[in-house]
Amino acid sequence: MTLELGVLVSGSGSNLQAILDAIDAGRLDARCRVVLSNRPGVLALERARTAGVPSITIDHKQFPTRQAFEERVLSELRAHGVEWLALAGFMRVLSPLLLDEYRGRVVNIHPSLLPAFPGVDAQGQAHAHGVKLAGCTVHFVDSGVDSGPIIAQAAVPVLPADSAEELRLRILEQEHVLFPQALQWIAEGRVRLIEGGDRRARVLIDPRDPDA
Ligand code: GRF
Repeated sequence: MTLELGVLVSGSGSNLQAILDAIDAGRLDARCRVVLSNRPGVLALERARTAGVPSITIDHKQFPTRQAFEERVLSELRAHGVEWLALAGFMRVLSPLLLDEYRGRVVNIHPSLLPAFPGVDAQGQAHAHGVKLAGCTVHFVDSGVDSGPIIAQAAVPVLPADSAEELRLRILEQEHVLFPQALQWIAEGRVRLIEGGDRRARVLIDPRDPDA
């Protein structure tokens, strides 16, 4: 199945770029229908324009409530035929308004090995804690902060002399591989969300069909 993607961004958009490059290279069966930023003037918007993808700024500061902001976002997503949402450095927590409409179809990349270090500056938190292994996580989004079911993770070593910035870049390199890969698994229909009943929901990745 081709994923009809909307990508939500707030910043430099290097993960957006990785997604666009993977689509171009035939490694990701998706169409990027629209890129939507809550911050004006960010590099991610420029990247979308360069790639010929529609891009829109919806500045959350211009809306009186989260609800009003998300209503506007939702109407743009619908208008552009978006079926799956990729949060690529999007720095807003989503409310049930968007999450209900896109239930089970919102995917985020987070720069830590969740459940360690949710929230902002995950790489700085990991660096400050002196962990020896760091990494990134692609997960389904639920109503919490970086708390949804984990789809895929990649780990990187933390070297003794690393600055927080060096660690951030090492993790980012892996994000650019992991995010398109996890989206491709979804496109291949291999990602199964298993509701946990009284336990946490979990994700299983089905093995690749040898005949495919
Ligand atoms: C990435 O580290 C992502 O994991 C986090 O925000 C950063 C966004 O970077 N959520 P970019 O905008 O994709 O370059």
